[in-house]
Amino acid sequence: APSDPDLVERARAAKEKLGDKVFILGHHYQRDEVIEFADVTGDSFKLARDAAARPDAEYIVFCGVHFMAESADILTGDDQQVILPDLAAGCSMADMASAEQVAECWDVLTEAGIAEQVVPVSYMNSSADIKAFTGKHGGTICTSSNAKRALDWAFEQGEKVLFLPDQHLGRNTAVRDMGLSLDDCVVYNPHKPNGGLTAEQLRAAKMILWRGHCSVHGRFSLESVEDVRKRIPDVNVLVHPECKHEVVAAADHVGSTEYIIKALEAAPRGSKWAIGTELNLVRRLANRFAAEDKEIVFLDKTVCFCSTMNRIDLPHLVWTLESLAAGKVVNRIEVDRETESFAKLALERMLALP
Ligand code: 13P
Ligand code: SF4
Repeated sequence: APSDPDLVERARAAKEKLGDKVFILGHHYQRDEVIEFADVTGDSFKLARDAAARPDAEYIVFCGVHFMAESADILTGDDQQVILPDLAAGCSMADMASAEQVAECWDVLTEAGIAEQVVPVSYMNSSADIKAFTGKHGGTICTSSNAKRALDWAFEQGEKVLFLPDQHLGRNTAVRDMGLSLDDCVVYNPHKPNGGLTAEQLRAAKMILWRGHCSVHGRFSLESVEDVRKRIPDVNVLVHPECKHEVVAAADHVGSTEYIIKALEAAPRGSKWAIGTELNLVRRLANRFAAEDKEIVFLDKTVCFCSTMNRIDLPHLVWTLESLAAGKVVNRIEVDRETESFAKLALERMLALP
């Protein structure tokens, strides 16, 4: 539905009043009504870099999810305030790894006598606590756009990687980009004693994958790829690496949200694409590229929006901007200093990857 014109006008007026004091970042999965007010849009990696590149902005309004706002707070100056327009905008994947569970896992690796050989690599989609754990144990953060480089780096530091919390990104990168086999990977289940693994299995593994996944991308199936190939014979299947391994293995192209956009920009007129990622982005791309005669369809019609990304809507954005314009800071995301120092170490290792 088109946005309420009153709200659009209020958002515009509040943003104008704030001027350079406010910097609005929008992840590609945000609603159109929110993207319209973003100063920059991007994937997780680009937004982390962009947030750090505006030291003059007093308020960083992060239209995305909680872990992104935390990362922005870690990477920006102490005098800058990061704001998440709705505090309920979390990420179910990030919630799948708690600090206690990860500490317990490290004990299991220590017991198995392999902790010294293990380098943690944590996906951006994790809490600041997990990023701090990663920094403390000599590891790095990665996003879907630099996971291979992060793993290359990690395997230069140690013999094994503990990849958390997304088993799919970990497995897909290891097998697709690193030449490892599925047998080199084991899955650590935090809900089972010892992660459900024997010490022998841990010692034999190269990749220890945390048992987490994205509830949106996890729903794309191999059948959806086969179906779309039948329906549209010359279709290009392009999916996000948070999809299951069998989906990624059956796709033609795999990449982050930013990669998906670039691929479609470079695609020839008349080409046909089935996209396996969040629906707000796919719809926006389908509308944008229809004018260039590129047919873009959603890979699986039963998959839906990311409900937490969708929490950020125009009413929340208006409330945030009007509060700030009235001198009242709302929904500030602030990581404590100790967590921040170790998490920053891990994030900076990522930013320094070649
Ligand atoms: P990217 O934008 O980095 O591809 O990440 C997708 C995602 O799920 C963010 O939550
Ligand atoms: Fe988290 Fe998946 Fe939503 Fe991304 S799309 S924020 S990984 S639940």
